[in-house]
Amino acid sequence: MTTRTKILGTGSFVPEKVLTNKDLETMIDTSDEWITTRTGIKERHIAQDGENNSDLAVKAARAALEMAQVEPEELDLIIVGTLTPDMPMPSVACLVQHALGARKAGAMDVSATCSGFLYSLSVADKFVRCSPDMKILVIGSEVLSRRTNWQDRTTCVLFADGAGAAVVSGSQGDEGIVSTHLHADGSLWELLTIRGHGTAYPLDGKKGCQYIEMQGRDVFKHAVKALESVAFEAVDASGWTMEELDLLIAHQANIRILEHLRERLSLPKDKVFINIHKYGNTSAASIPIALDEANRQGRLRPGDKLLMISFGGGFTWAGVTVKW
Ligand code: ACO
Repeated sequence: MTTRTKILGTGSFVPEKVLTNKDLETMIDTSDEWITTRTGIKERHIAQDGENNSDLAVKAARAALEMAQVEPEELDLIIVGTLTPDMPMPSVACLVQHALGARKAGAMDVSATCSGFLYSLSVADKFVRCSPDMKILVIGSEVLSRRTNWQDRTTCVLFADGAGAAVVSGSQGDEGIVSTHLHADGSLWELLTIRGHGTAYPLDGKKGCQYIEMQGRDVFKHAVKALESVAFEAVDASGWTMEELDLLIAHQANIRILEHLRERLSLPKDKVFINIHKYGNTSAASIPIALDEANRQGRLRPGDKLLMISFGGGFTWAGVTVKW
């Protein structure tokens, strides 16, 4: 009998404050029509002053633990995928561990930009395959609004805040994570960056370098190619065909990327989960928020074949298949 890493529960949380495209029209030279047709985003959630990454992460985590019926004291490890930690040290995972009272859990962050959740889930999967009794909390959480230049219309309409989480542990049988695939190409790092606050770009460096800088068109081209390739790689490695897939959850970066993928993978509309219109691009949080919504909406039934794929700065990209 194989041991697989099963997702026991999911949770998500987004800040209360909503910023609509209409609101953005009053802040910068843009329009609801441009944002909607170019990106698919209608509104996004933005953290209030004093509301930090770890606060969102803890709320998503509590929802996932409740669904999984796992107590914080039972957790062995907490992994947080993020590019916007509360501070460089300590990790978000340590702040979450303290807030939850997960006394025996180890804690670490994984830096893989928008692929942070799938990278973290893959790390958790390897731990569980070695030690099936382990209970691991995996989170993707971001406060991108504080790394967004609100005068730069090419990026500020895209990014937003939120968190999603999953609790995983070993299970005998074929339900759980089937295959994980991680990729990176650091030669293209300059196409998508936040330089400021790193040791190469200290605080007194170039003004404004604490913000996201993106060559959108180039990122778009690489994203569609990488996502398509990792989708086929993960489905093939799982011994599935694309037609057998029940649900695709891809990083919610742009509706045009999602539609392009749907065509390239020959998937019907109802098999591609989309919530970008409500949340924008929440980087590492985007997949676990979508996963939690799909789960709570009953879009995932036992035995369903789920594919999750992501792409982000670095570049990093990843694919994970799950038999639900
Ligand atoms: N409102 C109105 N006009 C705008 C806006 C705006 N908010 N932003 C740009 N424009 C203008 C530009 O100035 C340009 O005008 P010009 O032709 O007069 O020069 C025109 O619109 C077209 O600009 P493009 O940048 O070519 O627009 P594009 O169609 O490429 O869409 C976008 C831009 C949405 C950023 C797209 O390139 C994209 O989604 N890229 C991929 C992003 C992505 O996948 N990221 C994933 C990783 S994210 C992460 O890792 C954190």
